[in-house]
Amino acid sequence: MSIKNGNDVRDDQTITMDRRKFIVAGASVAATSMLSFATAAQASSEQSSSGVAGSKKSQSTSDIGKRKLGSLEVSSIGIGVQNMHRKFDTTVPYRPQMIKILREAYERGVTFFDTAEAYGPFENERILGEAISPFRDKIKITSKFGWNIDPKTGKRGPGLNSRPEHIKIAVEGSLKRLGTDHIDLLYQHRVDPQVPIEDVAGAVKDLMDQGKVLHWGLSEPGIQTIRRAHAELPLTAIQNEYSMATRDQEKAVIPLCEELGIGFVPWWPLNCQLLTGCIDAETNFAPGDFRSSTPRFSPENLAHNMQLIELIKRWADRKNAVPAQIPLAWLMAQRPWIVPIPGTTVMAHMIENVGATDVKFTPNELTELNAELNAIEIRGQRLPDGVLAFSGVEAPLKG
Ligand SMILES: NC(=O)c1ccc[n+]([C@@H]2O[C@H](COP(=O)([O-])OP(=O)(O)OC[C@H]3O[C@@H](n4cnc5c(N)ncnc54)[C@H](OP(=O)(O)O)[C@@H]3O)[C@@H](O)[C@H]2O)c1
Repeated sequence: MSIKNGNDVRDDQTITMDRRKFIVAGASVAATSMLSFATAAQASSEQSSSGVAGSKKSQSTSDIGKRKLGSLEVSSIGIGVQNMHRKFDTTVPYRPQMIKILREAYERGVTFFDTAEAYGPFENERILGEAISPFRDKIKITSKFGWNIDPKTGKRGPGLNSRPEHIKIAVEGSLKRLGTDHIDLLYQHRVDPQVPIEDVAGAVKDLMDQGKVLHWGLSEPGIQTIRRAHAELPLTAIQNEYSMATRDQEKAVIPLCEELGIGFVPWWPLNCQLLTGCIDAETNFAPGDFRSSTPRFSPENLAHNMQLIELIKRWADRKNAVPAQIPLAWLMAQRPWIVPIPGTTVMAHMIENVGATDVKFTPNELTELNAELNAIEIRGQRLPDGVLAFSGVEAPLKG
């Protein structure tokens, strides 16, 4: 029997076999992640010759499927690099291991890598640039401009800066740090309330004419700004927060993307780990970890929101998956032009996330899952007030 879902058609037997392959490989890498970094590095190179990595390498990029964001073709799932220089504003992941994770993601078929000038600032783009250097031409990289960052020092000033001359300098810096002559998809990170979107589009168009940028997109823009931007210079993707826990996008932005033929890239597809089963009602967040100041993660809201985690765990059991794969598979099941970019600093988690492409819902299962999901009220604002203020902003009218 075949299962048809979105743009993927697969055979039941193939799915079962793929999943078995994934579980074996995942268990092995999870074990190595408990070793010291040095030992893990050695174990990983041994794995390559002893079969686990060998069987993965035989997977072609088509194994995890491809999707189209506008006219840009990418793997069905991408990877977000943001936490690889510093995890949720707290600890610093071991850089050589981050490079390994990014390269292994590519080996497993991931061709869509997401970073930004503001992550670090700068350092995140350097990590991605180093990781992808052996296969730059075979993948698509995104970056973002728009925060008020000094292009020389990387120091953050207050607010935003999308003045055309600043965009061009920012992109030159991104290209250098990424070690490339072009960015496949360049986003405005947040709408600048001082700069008409037509002026932003003009600067991006100049960069496109020079071959430095191939596609562009917006992150967390106002609805009218999407329309105006798209009319000026066709957009390839909107990158907004969207997950089983944060569904505001379903009201206006996703229907608008559908109407205009723009792709959609959900950030925080795992709602910052909430949807993975790794956070429970007792979890405390370190001082400085922004989840400690985000209403969604307050002790009382967390306790309430565990209903969703219970639902995810039930569906994970039913689908022979791990919990994190359910919210990712659910996102991919919403539209064929949605490409989630889960972030991770753990090899085993990356493998699980890529494996989510093998978890498919039948139409009946999706109806049932959505009905259960609709019955759950998620408590707590998705972001702190000060951060949320930058979302849904409309750019000023020109002239
Ligand atoms: N446009 C924007 O304004 C914007 C804003 C935020 C983020 N983003 C983009 O979105 C990407 C994703 O966001 P994010 O990484 O912050 O949040 P996320 O993908 O929702 O969740 C990442 C968190 O989940 C954990 N995790 C990942 N896979 C897991 C698994 N299989 N099992 C258990 N835990 C797992 C990670 O911890 P481990 O490291 O322990 O795996 C990390 O704590 C970013 O990298 C960035 O590129 C964009």
